[in-house]
Amino acid sequence: MATHIVSGIVLLALCYACTVFGEQKSFKSGQIMPDNNNVHINAHGGGFLYKGGLYYWFGEHKTEGTAGNLANVGVHCYSSADLYNWKDEGVVLSVSNDDASEIAKGCILERPKVIYNAKTGKYVMWFHLEFKSADGKPNYSTARCALAVSDKPTGPYSYVRSFRPQKGRMPTDGDIADCISIDKSFDDAQIEKVLNNNNYKMLKGRGFAFVRDMRGKGQMARDMTLFVDDNSKAYLICSSEENATLHIHELTDDYQNFTGRFARVRCSDWNEAPAIFKKDGKYYLFASFCTGWAPNSARSYVSESIYGPWRSLGNPIDGSPEQMRTTFGGQSTFVIPVAGKEDAFIFVADIWRPKNAIDGRYIFLPIEFENGRPVIRWKNEWDLSFFDK
Ligand code: GAL
Repeated sequence: MATHIVSGIVLLALCYACTVFGEQKSFKSGQIMPDNNNVHINAHGGGFLYKGGLYYWFGEHKTEGTAGNLANVGVHCYSSADLYNWKDEGVVLSVSNDDASEIAKGCILERPKVIYNAKTGKYVMWFHLEFKSADGKPNYSTARCALAVSDKPTGPYSYVRSFRPQKGRMPTDGDIADCISIDKSFDDAQIEKVLNNNNYKMLKGRGFAFVRDMRGKGQMARDMTLFVDDNSKAYLICSSEENATLHIHELTDDYQNFTGRFARVRCSDWNEAPAIFKKDGKYYLFASFCTGWAPNSARSYVSESIYGPWRSLGNPIDGSPEQMRTTFGGQSTFVIPVAGKEDAFIFVADIWRPKNAIDGRYIFLPIEFENGRPVIRWKNEWDLSFFDK
């Protein structure tokens, strides 16, 4: 009797969960996206990893109000078998209560991405880090990339270190035709003269911030993403040079360091929010312009080599003038290759809500290809059968 009552209660609870929480069967961009506890997913500026039949979503855990734009909690992780229904896996990298820590509570920890390294069996997380500021106001002058590592996708991740990459180094690869070649433009004496006069503006438009940071702290690393190529080589792509130019850095075999091989890409194009994917042997890049939390027009680029030259394919958004001007109110964060479906890619973006950061929304839209260009159109609701057409 007692067992019957218990199973009855369990059944009722399950039915209740089904009706209240509901199984998700589609993407509804811009709306509240409930997890398995019926709580809006809290993983902004996110990245996705597919491993062992599951997708893992890593992102910034935001809190309420404007203070919620700072990292008060850490990196949140969710898992899903179908991309619609997400299980809360908790906070997998926590900020520290010790103010001396590089990831002290109140720092800025943005756009975390995780990749799996088959050689070491480790899950490797990179993110953009800004140290906690003395006055508690957001300050983006640290501009470092930071590393954390775990034995499991769902953590906990151990914080390793942060740094400014490529100090003292010239780029090894890149859009030579597109970027003015610094080594050819300036000899050491010229650079020294500019630096001694403390007049970086003399080099403006010619990689002034690059030269400043090559000689100084190392290159800036802000908005970032990771990309693993077919041959298992991995790259960290980030906004650098005061956000004027993207840098593409090759990672070492264990994905935990930089080899020193890197390119300056689309110099002075002012790209943020990079997201990369590969189709038919070509690399595609989405990015945004630099307007902080406010949305702007998306950009798209294509290249035969990860290091460029990256050719502009224009705004990938097809829609109303407003949708094209604002990327549906969002900013790119990642492109998910759908497992088991050929040429099926999902454009993922954040709709930021800087006044109440925790209320930020997500955009999931299918990428279509027309005349060799990726095109993204708004859909109130859609599912993966879209790709079967
Ligand atoms: C955006 C950037 C975000 C965040 C924000 C701060 O442009 O993509 O990740 O850094 O600026 O204003």
